[in-house]
Amino acid sequence: MRWILLGPPGSGKGTQAKRLAAAHSANHLSTGDILRAEVAKGSEVGAEAKQFMERGELVPDNVIIRMIRSRLQEGNGNGQFILDGFPRNRLQAEELDKMLTEIKVPIDRVVLVKVSDDEVKKRLAGRAVAEGRADDTADVIAHRLDVYREQTEPVVAYYREKGRLVEVEGEQSIDQVYSDLEKLVTA
Ligand code: AP5
Ligand code: MG
Repeated sequence: MRWILLGPPGSGKGTQAKRLAAAHSANHLSTGDILRAEVAKGSEVGAEAKQFMERGELVPDNVIIRMIRSRLQEGNGNGQFILDGFPRNRLQAEELDKMLTEIKVPIDRVVLVKVSDDEVKKRLAGRAVAEGRADDTADVIAHRLDVYREQTEPVVAYYREKGRLVEVEGEQSIDQVYSDLEKLVTA
């Protein structure tokens, strides 16, 4: 399984990627999780990333691309992975294509999890209470949605134009979304 999961903040990328990765012995590569771990460690990368993340801006491409490149080149164990939160803009998508060509590993699914802005706001307000993620405040959520629209929707279009995109309805129960995704594993 070599997947890209696309979708707005709060669409359930992390929730579903974690479960799919466990079920299929794939690596869950979440750039957001990796960055939050770097921030928690207080590393140089973390210190640089923190200011962008707090504002809901994208962290500079060179930081992100280096992070993904090293993980993909490590071979990631069995070479199975789910990318969650990457690529996030057109340049990242093009760089990913180059990396995958270099290591001769094709992506087999690009899946968009569709969720409306209202649902995103509701879910992330809930997560703010449950987990206290620093960027789950109303202002930053609104900005993350703008950034998604401006920078990540072109990535959705990029894969759609290539005929690579499959869409899943994200406004269903977690189990139902998961079941729809599972169907794509074997389809
Ligand atoms: P990142 O961590 O990727 O955040 P995000 O895209 O904003 O998405 P979230 O993690 O908020 O949502 P999700 O889709 O994973 O949903 P989840 O499963 O958690 O990025 C954070 C920041 O890092 C960025 O703003 C940027 O600064 C930086 N960054 C990361 N990647 C980058 C990149 N490639 N380039 C540059 N910068 C980058 O679910 C959300 C909530 O909803 C949870 O509480 C969950 O329990 C609930 N939920 C999930 N599914 C359902 C359902 N079906 N029904 C009801 N509730 C549900
Ligand atoms: Mg996430």
